[in-house]
Amino acid sequence: MKIAICYFSATGRTKAMAEAIAAGILEQEPGCEVRCLSITDVTKENTEAVEFVNSADGVLVGTPDYYAGEAWQIKQWLDVCPCKMAGKLCGAFATANFAVGGPVVAVEHILTHLMVQGAMVYSGGGAYGQPFIHLGPVCLRDQETEGAALMKIFGQRFAQQVKKVFG
Ligand SMILES: Cc1cc2nc3c(=O)[nH]c(=O)nc-3n(C[C@H](O)[C@H](O)[C@H](O)COP(=O)(O)O)c2cc1C
Repeated sequence: MKIAICYFSATGRTKAMAEAIAAGILEQEPGCEVRCLSITDVTKENTEAVEFVNSADGVLVGTPDYYAGEAWQIKQWLDVCPCKMAGKLCGAFATANFAVGGPVVAVEHILTHLMVQGAMVYSGGGAYGQPFIHLGPVCLRDQETEGAALMKIFGQRFAQQVKKVFG
């Protein structure tokens, strides 16, 4: 089982959350091959990175919230995506300064984009109860410890779901 976590991070917070998700995935599925990849490295020139994403069963996309949406770098990457997302189980996560700053909108934009590409999307599931993850996990400024714990649980839930779908 392979999972790729593709993120954009200008100041490191989204990258740290990608790593927390990876830790959760490995805790759930120690045999999983999981990689955190900056989207600046997932370019058509970097065939090794593109091949890893293309061969992954699950792909997660992480963004900082920019003006209540995904970072333009993520939008551009998805628009000209060198990877094929169709048929994969995908999800999204975000970091932001404020809960009211729109990080959930950023997550929703990414999920919509991935659905258009033919991916199946996974939210984390409000129905699982505490901690509630409605569309995807979000980490806010000065709440990195809580955010990382949430991301880890999201990683566990995602790994469980990838296993259920792909075996
Ligand atoms: C251009 C720009 C726009 C931003 N817009 C928002 C926003 O609308 N709402 C919010 O809560 N935070 C906003 N932020 C804060 C970032 O989402 C936040 O600092 C994020 O965690 C940075 O992630 P990074 O460290 O991975 O780059 C913005 C930051 C920048 C640079």
